[in-house]
Amino acid sequence: MSKSSRTPVPLTKDEIEKMRVVCKMAAKVLNYTASKVKPGITTLELDKIANDYTEKLGGTSACIGYYGYPFATCISVNEVVCHGTPSDYVIKEGDILNIDVTVKKDGFFGDTSKTVMVGKVSKEASDLVDAAYNAMMIGIEAIKPNGYTGDIGFETNKYVQRRGYTTVKEIGGHGIGKTFHMDPFVPAFGKRGKGEKIIPWTCFTVEPMVNEGVEDFDEYSIPNSEIKYYITTDKKLSAQFEHTILITDKGYEILTLE
Ligand code: MF3
Ligand code: CO
Ligand code: CO
Repeated sequence: MSKSSRTPVPLTKDEIEKMRVVCKMAAKVLNYTASKVKPGITTLELDKIANDYTEKLGGTSACIGYYGYPFATCISVNEVVCHGTPSDYVIKEGDILNIDVTVKKDGFFGDTSKTVMVGKVSKEASDLVDAAYNAMMIGIEAIKPNGYTGDIGFETNKYVQRRGYTTVKEIGGHGIGKTFHMDPFVPAFGKRGKGEKIIPWTCFTVEPMVNEGVEDFDEYSIPNSEIKYYITTDKKLSAQFEHTILITDKGYEILTLE
């Protein structure tokens, strides 16, 4: 998501535990939903699988009703950069699709996504997906408590450029906790030591969007919602992975793991 203005405050032990619980749930929902991807299934069917599984685990899907957004997940296929809306689109072999789930439980949010490859995909597609995963991990590894968000963006963008791809600049990671989207904005580009300060015992997401071609995208509206979805201007592929991270006093912990 884009910038918002809620200031991050260090979480208590109790709140950190709640973040651990909701983030693990989000990871389970994502992995379960991803395991159901196959040619012939629609993105709306995948959305229902995600929502049902979230409820089965005792959580709620945070996206439903968020600024009028009507679905449990965002499913962004091929050239869709993010916030793709589930529909009667039938998944086919060769597609790449990002599934993004956000679970709410006990007042806290866990946000995670991955790009799934359907059957045999082109080398171009699998290379891009590999780069997007590595871009996220390299960004996460650049996190230093009391460092800066620019450290993350710098390493991410350097890696992505070396791979011959581009990063999306206007959309990125975000603080998360008792609020779905808050400060800091976590960019997929930047300068070391610049940006916003990384505060121990707060959480944010790292979620770089990596484009095969140009970084530019066009914006499309979603009926009855303030949320927009985005498609690459050149209609080339885009891939993304996302984890929710807890900043500790010595480093970080990836919370959205099963
Ligand atoms: N999960 C998305 C993110 O990574 C946000 C989706 S908001 C929605 O920040 F309303 F589109 F669901
Ligand atoms: Co997010
Ligand atoms: Co997300």
